[in-house]
Amino acid sequence: MTGEETARVLVTGATGQVGTELARAAWPAGLTPVMAGRETLDLSAPEAAATVVRDGAFSLVVNPAAYTAVDAAETDEALAERVNGEGPRALAMACATAGIPLIQISTDYVFDGTKAGPYVEDDPVAPLGAYGRSKLAGEVAVRAECPRHVILRTAWVFSAHGKNFVKTMLRLAAEKPELRVVADQHGCPTAAHDIARVVVEIARQIVLDGRDDAWGTYHMAGAGATTWHGFAEAIVAAQAARTGKRPPVHPITTAEFPTPAQRPANSVLDCGKLTRTFGLTPRPWPDTLADVLAELAG
Ligand SMILES: NC(=O)c1ccc[n+]([C@@H]2O[C@H](COP(=O)([O-])OP(=O)(O)OC[C@H]3O[C@@H](n4cnc5c(N)ncnc54)[C@H](OP(=O)(O)O)[C@@H]3O)[C@@H](O)[C@H]2O)c1
Repeated sequence: MTGEETARVLVTGATGQVGTELARAAWPAGLTPVMAGRETLDLSAPEAAATVVRDGAFSLVVNPAAYTAVDAAETDEALAERVNGEGPRALAMACATAGIPLIQISTDYVFDGTKAGPYVEDDPVAPLGAYGRSKLAGEVAVRAECPRHVILRTAWVFSAHGKNFVKTMLRLAAEKPELRVVADQHGCPTAAHDIARVVVEIARQIVLDGRDDAWGTYHMAGAGATTWHGFAEAIVAAQAARTGKRPPVHPITTAEFPTPAQRPANSVLDCGKLTRTFGLTPRPWPDTLADVLAELAG
């Protein structure tokens, strides 16, 4: 792109954690994000969503919007499939028709968690629940319909906005004398602002550098693995420095905290391919947690 031209980038899910961070990310000159909330782009109406892509003269679509209620999906699988599977399929077809690429955000919950070490991109997928199945359907559809795609699998997303584990732990730490948190699920907490940074740079390389050799699936999750218990301890410890209140955080097993959806015991993501291909390295999750806690503290 040259001169005064600017490329329009359609971003779905404007109100979500990742959408919010994409809206306020530092986009380079030459890329203009066009944020679309559910009222303009509803993935449960795939045909209408595709029309937004067709009519918008975009250079790229980024799709972080999703049905993200992991437990509710167990009893609402048809809607989860429509929003996470058929919606992305319609976006992918519209992108292919328009000759533009698609960045699709996906999840660690496509894995069953039985691997001993970190997951790489081509490890076998075997989701344990309806949400994971619906997101996997989205991946399969995007690969089939839009060859010029980047699927970015992330994990354990947190930010100062919306509902997430960090905000839940802060509330519980303020209310309860002690906390009990699952210590046998391993993963990588990931700040929505770090996902946004990575998405913007990938968008820059694709649209502004004209990069045409990097289509495929990538992992992008906070550096360093922990458990929900380890994550909770870090949150409570950091908050204690501000409030002086530090309730003990007791480790419990998944069996002691049953949920409608089964979650993988290990969903640690190896992000080496992202670094090798795009020169991008996820930040250590404790550093990004400090950023988010500082933002919440105002
Ligand atoms: N959260 C996690 O821990 C996690 C982990 C791994 C991967 N991911 C993936 O990362 C992406 C971003 O997650 P997030 O945490 O930012 O999600 P989030 O905060 O739950 O936001 C989801 C967004 O999707 C929108 N949405 C829901 N149903 C929609 C529909 N039918 N049509 C259009 N938009 C719809 C929501 O809009 P409303 O505000 O109108 O509801 C919201 O803007 C998702 O693709 C998710 O699958 C998330």
